[in-house]
Amino acid sequence: MIQKCLFPAAGYGTRFLPATKATPKEMLPILTKPLIQYGVEEAVDAGIHTMAIVTGRGKRAIEDHFDISYELEHQIKGGEKENLLKEIRSLISGCTFSYTRQVEMKGLGDAILTGETLIGKEPFAVLLADDLCSHEGDSVLKQMIEVYEKYQCSIVAIEEIESHETHKYGIVAGNLVDETDDTYRVTDMIEKPDPKNAPSTMAIIGRYILTPDIFDILRKTTPGKGGEIQITDALLEQAKQGKVIAYKFKGKRFDCGSIDGFVAATNYFYTNIKKEK
Ligand code: G1P
Repeated sequence: MIQKCLFPAAGYGTRFLPATKATPKEMLPILTKPLIQYGVEEAVDAGIHTMAIVTGRGKRAIEDHFDISYELEHQIKGGEKENLLKEIRSLISGCTFSYTRQVEMKGLGDAILTGETLIGKEPFAVLLADDLCSHEGDSVLKQMIEVYEKYQCSIVAIEEIESHETHKYGIVAGNLVDETDDTYRVTDMIEKPDPKNAPSTMAIIGRYILTPDIFDILRKTTPGKGGEIQITDALLEQAKQGKVIAYKFKGKRFDCGSIDGFVAATNYFYTNIKKEK
């Protein structure tokens, strides 16, 4: 079983400056909920209740968000606004949150390795909160856990992108294993290639299930694209042994690390809420 979800949340969010000057990018809201809360809710939907968050300097608002605010609770107690805290309260009481800091920004691979102390020696999920996913049936993470249970190796969620966008993602190549569940055995993966070097247009989105041997591989992984330690490079080592499955998830993803994606997510969630009312 996958019991823990790691949230790399140390990045600066420079694309959203000045909003992210004093506010963590993971705390930017889509409607009334911060991005990281959507992520935690997705993990809970997948049956995970242990959240491991890799933060950095200036990220304390995340810890405060997943904690009781006595003054505020006292102030709104008994009034109709109390209801607005219902969802976050149930996350706080139903989950544990632990934190560790990435001291230097050395890439996603380094952030995941920093989280080893919170994960230990078990398979775990990784969720990048700025990839916001919506779903009609099971959440993306829940779908991935089912795939993990079948293949018992690392799993990456993928989607088809336009060929001019390959420089924004880890791109995988693989052989179809099972078309009924849209799974591919990964044979190659490259972090943010130019379109002419991209092995396909299948892009990794911010959802991973990783087996714990990834930590030893990450320790040996040298800086790659952008001079950073890339999870894509570490996963390639597992892929060479046939131990990475790419899964075309069912659902919709918004890149909330970009302004276009953020606005699209806001409109989408707003329209859905209107429909529900
Ligand atoms: C990271 C990964 C990349 C992946 C992407 C998904 O990049 O390095 O392989 O495709 O997340 O969002 P980032 O968006 O953090 O630059």
